[in-house]
Amino acid sequence: MPRDGQNASGQDAQTHATVRSLARWGASVLGERPDVTGSPDLDAEVLLRHLLGLDRTAYFMAAQDAVAPEVADRYADVLSRRLGGEPVAYLTGIREFFGLSFLVTPAVLVPRPETESLVLWALDRARRHVPATVLDIGTGSGAIALSVAARQPPDRETRVIGSDVSAEALAVARQNQRALGANGAVSAVTFVRGDLAAWCRGPIDLLLANLPYLTPEQVSGNPDLAAEPSLALVSGPDGLAAIDRLVADLPRVLSPAGAAILELDPAQARTVRYRIGLLMPSATVTIHPDLAGLDRFVTVER
Ligand SMILES: C[S@@+](CC[C@H](N)C(=O)[O-])C[C@H]1O[C@@H](n2cnc3c(N)ncnc32)[C@H](O)[C@@H]1O
Repeated sequence: MPRDGQNASGQDAQTHATVRSLARWGASVLGERPDVTGSPDLDAEVLLRHLLGLDRTAYFMAAQDAVAPEVADRYADVLSRRLGGEPVAYLTGIREFFGLSFLVTPAVLVPRPETESLVLWALDRARRHVPATVLDIGTGSGAIALSVAARQPPDRETRVIGSDVSAEALAVARQNQRALGANGAVSAVTFVRGDLAAWCRGPIDLLLANLPYLTPEQVSGNPDLAAEPSLALVSGPDGLAAIDRLVADLPRVLSPAGAAILELDPAQARTVRYRIGLLMPSATVTIHPDLAGLDRFVTVER
């Protein structure tokens, strides 16, 4: 509660809670649970701003404003759901990725900042070798496919496809496409339901994949991941089931001058580089770090 003796709305008989007092209360409640969040101040702010419909500047300007009791009650509800382990992005329904706003629901992985490096590599590769076809396998919310499409020069005729085995995820991706679709290349993205690249007749010039790559133990040992779909996180006992199957299919689907980038767990990078090297001995296979310096991506360039 914002102050002693107040009710769940953070108000007493005379006084409504203010934006600042509610935010401080939220941060202190979340701060008591480091097992749930490592960023209590930010979480408290983002959730309150979402309920108030304020951007950061307006939020700081409104610090002394009174908050309606109904909003304070809703804030208390949202905080208790956060304490129950629901990610901030599922509570607000929105996640920023590569400068765009994506709708996220529990049907999709919350796009991670490290995946922005995958998009950067793809855009750089597309500048050097303009692709006729780009395929984002395991598209989830559509974050990768739509971000790449949104950055294509207007005169370019690159065809961008996003695919996923989950119909629920594809419904979210299509909603994001509609929300972002003013740009011609974004509205031209095709979404396909299918298992990895099995449905694809190729050839693909630029293949992008952030597939599930965790082990069951990594997920069960991390409460942060409990609310996200297991289909988006876990892939067989060593986390490599989906990546291995896709790697085996790369020689077939990649065009003669094609390239691919796979996001993975740092512990898998050398194994995956080795396996691709065996299958495609003349290709250039490279491990790239993420922003934290961890081996997060393997690229293949034919
Ligand atoms: C780690 S999430 C990535 C989502 C999104 N690309 C991103 O980076 O935020 C992995 C996605 O792969 C999908 N997936 C899992 N197995 C798959 C398969 N066999 N074929 C296609 N997609 C699959 C999941 O449904 C999920 O949406």
